Amino acid sequence: DWTAEHMVTEAIDAVRMTVGDRRVLCALSGGVDSAVAAALVQRAIGAQLTCVFVDHGLLREGEAEQVKNDFVAATGVELVVADERERFLAALKGVTDPEEKRKIIGREFIRTFEAQARELAGERGIDFLVQGTLYPDVVESGGGEGTANIKSHHNVGGLPDDLQFTLIEPLRHMFKDEVRAVGEELGLPEAMVWRHPFPGPGLGIRIIGEVTQERLEILRQADAIARHEVAEAKMERDIWQFPVVLLADVRSVGVQGDGRTYGHPIVLRPVVSDDAMTADWARLPHDLLERISSRITNECPDVNRVVLDITSKPPATIEWE
Ligand code: XMP
Repeated sequence: DWTAEHMVTEAIDAVRMTVGDRRVLCALSGGVDSAVAAALVQRAIGAQLTCVFVDHGLLREGEAEQVKNDFVAATGVELVVADERERFLAALKGVTDPEEKRKIIGREFIRTFEAQARELAGERGIDFLVQGTLYPDVVESGGGEGTANIKSHHNVGGLPDDLQFTLIEPLRHMFKDEVRAVGEELGLPEAMVWRHPFPGPGLGIRIIGEVTQERLEILRQADAIARHEVAEAKMERDIWQFPVVLLADVRSVGVQGDGRTYGHPIVLRPVVSDDAMTADWARLPHDLLERISSRITNECPDVNRVVLDITSKPPATIEWE
């Protein structure tokens, strides 16, 4: 693919020119944009790049491993993993308000990343921070023109003054489909390149009620079933996003084997959209929904009901919190 190849070459040249022999830091989230941005910078300057992955324990099944194993294998990047699963759970203990959850997860993320960045900057003298900003984000924030690949910024993403990096944004001229093409060109894992949008606060805002380890495990299992069945049906690319939500604060009566159950509902929220600003519920085939429903109720402990969200956005949002 000439276009992707050309974009890779151009981006690599720009990064080399800017960075020279200095050092660069990048936070990996598991998402497409940060992965492609990091892989490009790695291709350009190799060992001068260090990536940090904050494992907050709110990713879906297999996603942390994808970053730690598959991404590293595909790129050869140096990765520092901060296993902060306990910390996030402790911070979220007793919290049920959606905005409160978002604030806590965002705050803990910045704190963890900041600590890692400070340590690495002290050790190595880091000058640059990679961000996976895309062209639509650039336009939205009013900086669309110009050809520079690099934008200078202070106080990046709420980092304190003593951690001032210059931003490198190797994707700032690209649209999402171009980013994916570049990711494929760079040999990234397919599951990463074609990952649906996923919120930063992760599964934390897909558990309605308090976030606990046990609930995360149930939701992770239900989500993995839905993803697996959609993949088997080869419908991944027909759907914009497919949140799976655990109504942990709701119970309903069911019957299983020879007994009454009193368990939690799982909500399926598959949507189609162009840009997430508006969305419609995805008309998935009934037999696919049937398979997902029966597998979830059979395999997920404490789940005895599966419901389908048939609301468009507006009036509902894509996520439940
Ligand atoms: P809503 O729920 O507002 O979501 O319709 C629109 C899109 O944004 C994603 N989303 C987030 N992404 N951090 C993110 O990076 C967040 O806090 C966040 N909240 C929602 C959501 O998944 C959908 O794609």
